[in-house]
Amino acid sequence: MPTGTFDTRGTIGLITIDSPPVNALGLGVRQAILHGLAAAEAEASVAAIVLLCAGRTFFAGADITEFGKPPMRPDLLDVIARIEGATKPVIAAIHGTALGGGLETALACDYRIASPTARVGLPEVALGLLPGAGGTQRLPRIVGAAAALEIITGGKPIAAPRALALGIVDRLSAPDDLTDAAIAFAREIVADGAVRRRVRDREDKVAADRGNPALFDDFRARNPGLFRGVRAPTNIVAAIEAAVALPFDEGMAREAALFEELLHSRESEAQRYAFFAERDTAKVPGLPADTPVAPIASVGVIGAGTMGGGIAMNFLNVGLPVTLVETRQDALDRGVATIRRNYEASARKGKLDAAEVERRMALLTGTLALSDLAGCDLVIEAVFESMDLKKTIFAELDAIAKRSAILASNTSFLDLDAIAAVTERPERVVGLHFFSPANVMRLLEVVRGARTAPDVVATAMRLAKRIGKLPVLSGVCEGFIANRAMGVRMAQADALALEGASPQQIDRVLVDYGFPMGAFQMLDLIGLDVIGRDSTERTLMGDLVAQGRLGQKQNGGFYDYDAQRRPTPSPVADEVIAALAAAKGIVRRSFTDQELRERLLYAVVNEGARILDEGIALRASDIDMALIAGYGWPVHTGGPMFWADTVGLPTIVATLEALAQRHGDTFVPSPLLVRLAESGGMLHRAVAASSTPVLEGA
Ligand code: 3HC
Ligand code: NAI
Repeated sequence: MPTGTFDTRGTIGLITIDSPPVNALGLGVRQAILHGLAAAEAEASVAAIVLLCAGRTFFAGADITEFGKPPMRPDLLDVIARIEGATKPVIAAIHGTALGGGLETALACDYRIASPTARVGLPEVALGLLPGAGGTQRLPRIVGAAAALEIITGGKPIAAPRALALGIVDRLSAPDDLTDAAIAFAREIVADGAVRRRVRDREDKVAADRGNPALFDDFRARNPGLFRGVRAPTNIVAAIEAAVALPFDEGMAREAALFEELLHSRESEAQRYAFFAERDTAKVPGLPADTPVAPIASVGVIGAGTMGGGIAMNFLNVGLPVTLVETRQDALDRGVATIRRNYEASARKGKLDAAEVERRMALLTGTLALSDLAGCDLVIEAVFESMDLKKTIFAELDAIAKRSAILASNTSFLDLDAIAAVTERPERVVGLHFFSPANVMRLLEVVRGARTAPDVVATAMRLAKRIGKLPVLSGVCEGFIANRAMGVRMAQADALALEGASPQQIDRVLVDYGFPMGAFQMLDLIGLDVIGRDSTERTLMGDLVAQGRLGQKQNGGFYDYDAQRRPTPSPVADEVIAALAAAKGIVRRSFTDQELRERLLYAVVNEGARILDEGIALRASDIDMALIAGYGWPVHTGGPMFWADTVGLPTIVATLEALAQRHGDTFVPSPLLVRLAESGGMLHRAVAASSTPVLEGA
């Protein structure tokens, strides 16, 4: 039960709300605030009121679990009106993160003081929403419309010092002194005559913006990508336009209408699902939250290539020393130089200072001797994708690494159990499958082998969070979750190109759906030689590489590129495609966009359902998170599993059955899909059944 306490410090009333974990503004919290206000007003000795929260944060926002349910009064707007209508000035004292409705509550107060480590923001856009408790009307009155547009459409939290500079907060406390500083601030306000200072009454900024009507069109023109496929940014801009154009109460009414529209949208439903799905991935059935985790104080990385360097950076970034092993000095030097170059690029962009670059580089030790990994708590292997090589390395490593060390492989497709079997500690072997670029991509697949111990899984999940990754647990299969599910999309894209759809049409269908880029654009970017090198059968990529077309980096690939790397359709690539189709005896035809979408994306839905049915993934939502974080699957669709439910499983199953007649196994509907379609169940709520890998060991 949320608690709200009221007490007094001389003439100052203190309302303290305590609703773990994040003081979300659910019904109980809203009631507690109103009770506190009533008590403060009733107490004649109180001249000003401080509103603060216990625990780790100020209000983290509206209670997202209440969205989509019948509204319950008092709602947040009632609370905010009550604060603004209070008979005494109210001072918000902010620590942790004041987000969404939390910041809106603070903006309804007369004054705001924050601890220096606090962050404030309006992240509603990430939930497919807009700030619906006055944020779009009050923030522009403080920072002006231009800054409000950036802040609210961006959704990123703002650190306290910048919030102070922008005027969002009035004052910062000393570290760990927020309560006393807030009381002192309140006393000054009382001494100055307890002046009310409501944001709603401020007119200067919006009046100035009224003189610049092109502001909004300019913003829209400068940020076309922001609006693609989603509704929330459009409504946010409209709400801020209303803040500038309309009197405050009319602006509030406009905000409410625009918020309401978003609240009932698919996009918001999908993004709210993703919010909770993201937090669920770390919860592993059978693995209690108090499972002991091994301390990781030093990390070894084997292989300083594309992946090894990026993997190492993750640990350097959080202050963990890394020993990086290579076979040859030149490869090691190249790997270390790439890491430095990446950090220096961040420094040039102002994301790191020069001293921090050196601090991180000082944590890195390069070596040609595997034996230098003897003291590491965790070793991650990232050498070439060869089973023989990995087995050799794991056998050697097993003899070198201390007994308690965790041995991990970054393999993309190989059988982790076979790798673990060459060691005498298969229970301490785990897959840590990073995505490229490993220092950037959020997804980390934690691959649990048949014998991986629970504490090793728990350690990997915890470590992932420490380095800012989204961990998704996977069982062992070829490609694990994300590569396996998206592999079928690639196979379909290839097949469709041979059957007569142009790479441009295929890519456009994917981009229209919401992917940041198409399948062929992605291949051209990565390099066709990188992906295609192990293939034995004659493939499109192989044929293009044989023509010297390696992608963006050399001669173009599926597209031609100009000096600015802008793609244009390639007559040469089209000829290569037509020739291979002819050689394979494929009859070519044209396709509708809808046909392409079904072939490309229903195939992923079906593969995802199989991955779940086999117990490779714990839950459907983990598959959605893996593809959103690992492959840029558009979050506003909720991921393939959630999206399948919005299309309707009976439709998907019927289409798959028809496609299976012509295109074989990929499209034979998974038993899980068929069961759910018949029973009216929801795919995105499905969890792995009894086939979930059983945890062994203690
Ligand atoms: N509503 C309901 N539950 C919430 C919540 C919220 N606003 N914010 C967090 N939670 C829950 C999480 O689901 C999680 O639950 P679990 O432990 O059962 O998985 C728990 O609180 C802890 O959350 P995190 O794991 O995310 O904790 P962190 O310490 O890592 O992060 C945080 C804290 C930065 C506050 C982060 O939780 C966060 O970003 N929360 C959401 C902020 C947000 O989006 N606010 C806007 C809401 S919409 C709104 O306010 C609309 C208004 O304009 C009308
Ligand atoms: P890479 O070819 O860029 O780098 C491999 C490095 O390992 C080379 O620098 C090589 O010199 C070094 N190496 C080889 N044998 C060694 C040994 N015995 N000791 C120390 N170093 C040795 O390869 P990349 O792309 O980094 O891939 C590494 C692993 O990561 C592979 O298993 C791959 O499947 C996996 N992976 C690759 C991804 C990618 O996008 N490139 C994504 C996710 C996983």
